[in-house]
Order: sequence, then C-alpha cells, then structure tokens
Amino acid sequence: MELRLSGRTALITGAGGGIGRAVAQALTAEGVRVALLDRDAEALRATAALCAGSLPLVADVTHEDAVADAVAHAVAELGALHTVICCAGISGPVGSGIEATSLAEWQAVFAVNVTSAFLVLRAALPALRDAPAASVVLVASDSAVVASPGMAPYCASKAALVQFGRALSVDLAGDDVRVTTVSPSVVDTPMSRGDLGDAAFAAPEFPVQTAEEVAAHVVYLASPRARAINGSGILSDFGYSARSGFPA
Ligand SMILES: NC(=O)c1ccc[n+]([C@@H]2O[C@H](COP(=O)([O-])OP(=O)(O)OC[C@H]3O[C@@H](n4cnc5c(N)ncnc54)[C@H](O)[C@@H]3O)[C@@H](O)[C@H]2O)c1
Repeated sequence: MELRLSGRTALITGAGGGIGRAVAQALTAEGVRVALLDRDAEALRATAALCAGSLPLVADVTHEDAVADAVAHAVAELGALHTVICCAGISGPVGSGIEATSLAEWQAVFAVNVTSAFLVLRAALPALRDAPAASVVLVASDSAVVASPGMAPYCASKAALVQFGRALSVDLAGDDVRVTTVSPSVVDTPMSRGDLGDAAFAAPEFPVQTAEEVAAHVVYLASPRARAINGSGILSDFGYSARSGFPA
C-alpha cells in the first residue's frame, strides 16, 4: 500500500530505544525525513546511523526548555513538521505495591510518560498546524486498559496518555491535525527485557510482538491513509482484553 508519506517530516521521541528506533527506520524507509529525540546520546547515534538524512537531538523530554529548543531546532532544520511520534517512556517500579513506591518514582513515571507528550506537542503545535494532513501518534500501552500487579504508576500513566490524546484530538478538530494512539502488549525491547529478564523471552509463555510490528501500526496511523482515524487508535494485544471471565 502506498502510504503517501514520501517527502514528509517527523519528530520521534525515544528514538534511541526499541520501538522509537524501529519507527524511525520505518518512516525513513517511507521517504520521511526524521528528527530523532532521546536523552541517550549513544543510542541516538546508533539510530541516526540507520536513518539516512536524520537529525539527532539529545534532550531530556521532561525538561521544558530542552524540549522547546529541540523542537525549534527540528522545525528550523526540516523546514516543516508533518508528524510527531511520542515514544519516550519508562516502566518505573515493577512488582511494587504503592506503599513501596516513593512520590519521586510516581512523579518520574508521569513526567516521562505523560508530561513529556504535553511539552513536546505544545512546542510542536504551531508547526503541525502549518503542515497539511498533520498527525500525532502517542505510543501508549495495553496497560492503559489492563493491569499487571505491581505496576500502578505505569498503568495510570498510560491511561492518562490515551485520554490526553483523545482530548487533544477534540481540541484540534478543524486544525487538520489528527491525534491517535498505539497500545501494544509486550514488545521485545530493552525496556521489557529489563523488566522481565532475557530468560522470559527464550521460549515466552505470553505473546510477544516485535518493535517492527509496532512501528508498522505507528507508521500507518501517522500516514494520510489513516485520515478517518482520530481520537482513537490501535490496541495490539493479541485479543487479550476482549476476553470475558465468564466461564462459558
Ligand atoms: N516494550 C514493551 O513491552 C512496551 C509495551 C507497550 C508500550 N511500550 C511503550 O513503548 C515506548 C517505547 O518503549 P521501548 O520498549 O522501546 O523502551 P526502550 O527503553 O527500549 O526505549 C525508550 C527510549 O526512551 C528514551 N527515554 C526515556 N526517558 C527519556 C527522557 N526523559 N528523555 C528522553 N528520552 C527518554 C530512552 O533513552 C530510550 O531510548 C514506551 O512509551 C513504552 O512505555 C513498550
């Protein structure tokens, strides 16, 4: 399918990581010029080497001024901004109840997983409004709708991110800027391997998708082909959340 992305531009946060890197590569392959944002300079260099013509920008997405500078730099260099993909995220505490969770841990999860999208998109909105058929894709998680024990901050942050996207799509109705979300279950990336351990991925007893599979969903939603999809998105959980507990 021709996605009509060639010649467009995109900014991707978390571009040094598993899903962000795969999205950057997939968009580059579609002819998109990408600006890559991450706090990890070495990981960012590795992604940039895979994406011809890309613009790597080292910044912490939770720092208001650094985000504003990075977005301004991207717009100045790319000349336009058709798409923003918010992919930067952290797990926070895994396996801890909230009594064992500090306020600093809770706030760190919300800062990266939710507030950063607010900061990046607030800075990027003038450029997005100037671009025809602009799009935003927020990388959320199935944790927005189902929960694993001991991950309350992460689950709450992803639900907040999904609703932020829905609210923003309403605010931007009429501005030709769509806002969508992708909510995958477990994806094989450094984040999930850090949380679950490499051994869990040797012969997994749970369905696992690749970062490239998630990137395909993101790229489609970012493309003008998905013009009717706004304020909603893709829940890619192998059907898990559709199952009832009713024992029929
Ligand atoms: N891996 C999974 O199983 C899974 C499932 C569902 C959703 N997600 C979501 O997908 C997104 C990407 O996750 P991933 O699995 O590729 O993780 P990852 O850890 O491989 O990559 C995340 C990237 O974000 C960057 N980052 C983190 N905090 C940052 C900050 N403050 N400023 C700038 N960059 C920052 C990291 O440096 C890293 O390069 C996250 O939002 C995550 O919650 C992941």
